[in-house]
Amino acid sequence: MSVVVLGSVNQDIVCEVERLPRPGETVLALRARTNLGGKGSNQAVAAAQAGGRVEFIARIGRDADPGLRKSLRDYAVGLATLREVEDARTGTAYITVADGENQIVVDSGANFCWEPEPELDTLNEVELLRSADVVVVQLEVPLRVVAWAARHARRLVLNAAPATVLPDELLLRCHPLVVNESELSALTGSTARTPEQAFHLARSLCLRGVASVVATLGATGSVWAHRCDVPPVAGGYQAAPQVNSVDSTGAGDAFVGALATALADGRQLGAAVAYATAAGALAVQTPGTHASYPTADQIRTALATIPAARPLV
Ligand code: RIB
Repeated sequence: MSVVVLGSVNQDIVCEVERLPRPGETVLALRARTNLGGKGSNQAVAAAQAGGRVEFIARIGRDADPGLRKSLRDYAVGLATLREVEDARTGTAYITVADGENQIVVDSGANFCWEPEPELDTLNEVELLRSADVVVVQLEVPLRVVAWAARHARRLVLNAAPATVLPDELLLRCHPLVVNESELSALTGSTARTPEQAFHLARSLCLRGVASVVATLGATGSVWAHRCDVPPVAGGYQAAPQVNSVDSTGAGDAFVGALATALADGRQLGAAVAYATAAGALAVQTPGTHASYPTADQIRTALATIPAARPLV
């Protein structure tokens, strides 16, 4: 079950506040901390914790803390293609957390400093991408790099976060495309208020040619849809267990990482969504990102508490 994650690395600066500030407002932090994050590194750690053999392709600055590599290696994430770029600082994310919700602003730095495609084609990255059971990408790196990785992937999991306009050529390579409610809305132009409506929107993406779609709906759970023969699209709704959420930062990344490992392990999409749901539910119960990601044993135990999925067509 080999997983290659291509994506961002950020130093997260996290302020816990009583409530998120309104525009123009200043609030005082209750506590502040820094930890390693970025959707790419989060998903790589989550996939490794969930039992995957993981390699991580990323770009950092020369300013990066030496502890960054050690921390990722301690989670058994392979770093053969984590490269330092000149004249760029490692990405930084400014995160405000209140009542389990968060707001994030990212200063991309080195995450946007990738070689031109002809040069990328000469690097070891290509072989890694081609040999992986599953390649995972998100959108905190340039779209051209995402498209390049997609062209070399046997199976692509694209987490369309943060939301942006995506070319059809890229969408048609996703299996699955993973989105949250606002990203689903950005891609379809409609808003879903229920799991059935979210399935309907995911189904519309499948009818446009996407092989499969997973839409996460926060504490409500998630839906998935995939193309088939009769009916043309099928899927289901997976409710999430009720848990005490203390910090949702990076919980979506826990979901994506565990989903990728389950798919690389040969599970069907519905079973992989259940595995990812258990991982996400565990992640929100502990502050931070990497430190909150559950092991395969913890996920398997939590699977017993996951409600049965309901088929949708
Ligand atoms: O998804 C959570 C992540 O988004 C944080 O770790 C932050 O770095 C931003 O990339």
